[in-house]
Amino acid sequence: MVSMSALRHGLGVLYLAGWLGSSLAATTEQWKSRSIYQTMTDRFARTDGSTTSPCNTTEGLYCGGTWRGMINHLDYIQGMGFDAVMISPIIENVEGRVEYGEAYHGYWPLDLYSLNSHFGTHQDLLDLSDALHARDMYLMMDTVINNMAYITNGSDPATHIDYSTLTPFNSSSYYHPYCKITDWNNYTNAQLCQTGDNIVALPDLYTEHAEVQETLSNWAKDVISTYSIDGLRIDAAKHVNPGFLKNFGDAVDIFMTGEVLQQEVSTICDYQNNYIGSLPNYPVYYAMLKAFTLGNTSALATQVQEMKNSCHDVTALSSFSENHDVARFASMNPDMALAKNILTFTLLADGVPMIYQGQEQHLDGPGSPKNREAIWLTEYNTDAELYKLIGKLNAIRKHAYRLDNHYPDVQTYPVFEGGSELGFRKGVEGRQVVMLLSTQGTNSSAYNLSMPVSFTGGTVVTEILNCINYTVNAQSELVVPMDKGEPRVFFPADLMPGSGLCGLPVANVTYAALKTQGAAAAEAALSLGIRTDAASNALLSLVLSVVAGLLVGMW
Ligand SMILES: *[C@@H]1O[C@H](CO)[C@@H](O)[C@H](O)[C@H]1NC(C)=O
Ligand SMILES: *[C@@H]1O[C@H](CO)[C@@H](O)[C@H](O)[C@H]1NC(C)=O
Ligand SMILES: *[C@@H]1O[C@H](CO)[C@@H](O)[C@H](O)[C@H]1NC(C)=O
Ligand SMILES: *[C@@H]1O[C@H](CO)[C@@H](O)[C@H](O)[C@H]1NC(C)=O
Ligand SMILES: *[C@@H]1O[C@H](CO)[C@@H](O)[C@H](O)[C@H]1NC(C)=O
Ligand SMILES: *[C@@H]1O[C@H](CO)[C@@H](O)[C@H](O)[C@H]1NC(C)=O
Ligand SMILES: *[C@@H]1O[C@H](CO)[C@@H](O)[C@H](O)[C@H]1NC(C)=O
Ligand SMILES: *[C@@H]1O[C@H](CO)[C@@H](O)[C@H](O)[C@H]1NC(C)=O
Ligand SMILES: *[C@@H]1O[C@H](CO)[C@@H](O)[C@H](O)[C@H]1NC(C)=O
Repeated sequence: MVSMSALRHGLGVLYLAGWLGSSLAATTEQWKSRSIYQTMTDRFARTDGSTTSPCNTTEGLYCGGTWRGMINHLDYIQGMGFDAVMISPIIENVEGRVEYGEAYHGYWPLDLYSLNSHFGTHQDLLDLSDALHARDMYLMMDTVINNMAYITNGSDPATHIDYSTLTPFNSSSYYHPYCKITDWNNYTNAQLCQTGDNIVALPDLYTEHAEVQETLSNWAKDVISTYSIDGLRIDAAKHVNPGFLKNFGDAVDIFMTGEVLQQEVSTICDYQNNYIGSLPNYPVYYAMLKAFTLGNTSALATQVQEMKNSCHDVTALSSFSENHDVARFASMNPDMALAKNILTFTLLADGVPMIYQGQEQHLDGPGSPKNREAIWLTEYNTDAELYKLIGKLNAIRKHAYRLDNHYPDVQTYPVFEGGSELGFRKGVEGRQVVMLLSTQGTNSSAYNLSMPVSFTGGTVVTEILNCINYTVNAQSELVVPMDKGEPRVFFPADLMPGSGLCGLPVANVTYAALKTQGAAAAEAALSLGIRTDAASNALLSLVLSVVAGLLVGMW
């Protein structure tokens, strides 16, 4: 395979053009306004566009998803309002089938300097990156820096790993001496020993070693610039030496969210405060489950507050309620109303939302590997209830950001706790989004709920999921008709123009213009052609690329 650094030299001019025109090295602040759709490349879309090709998740074999297939289904992702996509690790993995399958997930690295050919070619990946950036979407790459992989297929990894097969770490001196993790809660043990087993050994990189650190950082920098990658997910960050995690982050200088699968607030916040700026918010994830499967509302309200007290910046964490490692919510409770409530919280609370492919289709795989369903089998149904819900939630989140660029930084706090309801607010006074969640489920009947704290008395607010206006009464109570356990989301009615919701077109309005000119401000923004759609962004990229090309030619 062609080495990435050779490609990089050959394409130097193109990189600079791409770099100026797109979003490379997006900062944490830029990521905060984004919303990520997490794909698993092998299971998202095939090059042939098939919606019937079988995929037996239990067998764990490659099912045929590709970067090219994904390019052809970006409308499906963007149709929900996502503006960032995460893909599986891209590098070449070990080939071959063992009792639990093949390396379809990308977590069994063999050669850092080659691509996983099951997913496509160098050109396919470049095209995917370009296609995303042309839509003003970011590209996040899942990344393994903890280990390499070797199939021992039953033999003892202590004696049966042929390190010379691994690139570039081709001798045992690049790895910790073999030991099996005996205590996953002992961090020393979990970081020095191997996460694999005696079927697929995962030789644990000696990341305390300067040469290993430098090789990994240089590799990542190369890949990031070659493919204009905007952010990384760091797989198994808990198992990486934390000092290296910090050095790696400083070297690549790009937004990274690192997987530390722990529910203790202190652990996650210790990582954020010392080693890596963002992590998936596992403590709040577990609290969400308590709220929406057990009806324990106070657990969620309390955890939201505790995270804020301990973490340096909760708004930089990633907010999720499903991923490829945990049981899907529908497998714990099939109720559609609860699925809507947990999604509403995931998308509107603090942090960068990261929604795992298939949650929008209410898939119900009960944990790995059954939660890695092929999305094509759902026929990419854009009429699915949760698909449409996500579109509305991303739209109000983006609109709140449009009206206040600090919106992502303003922390969420609880404003209401009922026996089976929870209210949260995010945003500065006057421009806040208020969500009212229910843990009752679809069978619950209609009742009126009085929320004492929401907006100031007299404010007309739109419930954006149903497009109904309510007026906050003189006692500052918002009386909300609840029904069938559905969530409610409120925003000031006079600030709705430009949101793309309730029949209103999307327009790049400002808060000041809306306050002074009302709905006319949105019409003015539209008629000026100040739009946020993909076409205008593609044009902008093109112009910038041409300018960049001229500059390169001149100097
Ligand atoms: C999937 O594969 C497993 C393991 O080989 C097998 O037991 C199961 O019947 C298969 N499921 C389907 C739907 O074919
Ligand atoms: C592993 O062992 C199984 C059972 O003997 C065999 O079917 C399979 O082909 C082996 N896989 C590899 C990659 O050697
Ligand atoms: C490891 O790779 C390097 C660079 O390709 C090579 O010079 C060296 O001989 C290899 N070492 C082993 C043990 O295969
Ligand atoms: C944790 O693991 C390390 C390395 O495996 C070991 O030396 C140490 O004794 C363990 N600590 C505890 C408290 O078990
Ligand atoms: C709710 O969760 C909290 C925090 O986990 C726990 O202390 C409390 O006992 C739970 N309440 C109920 C009713 O289970
Ligand atoms: C809701 O009601 C239906 C029909 O009465 C019943 O089958 C179902 O079990 C109920 N669900 C819950 C979560 O109580
Ligand atoms: C809720 O309040 C409205 C307005 O006062 C009233 O029309 C409606 O009947 C009430 N709904 C229920 C379920 O009590
Ligand atoms: C809600 O209020 C806004 C602002 O007053 C108004 O423009 C809009 O038409 C109202 N929507 C509905 C559904 O009544
Ligand atoms: C929206 O308008 C603001 C200023 O009015 C401008 O800074 C921003 O770049 C515009 N955004 C888009 C996507 O056009």
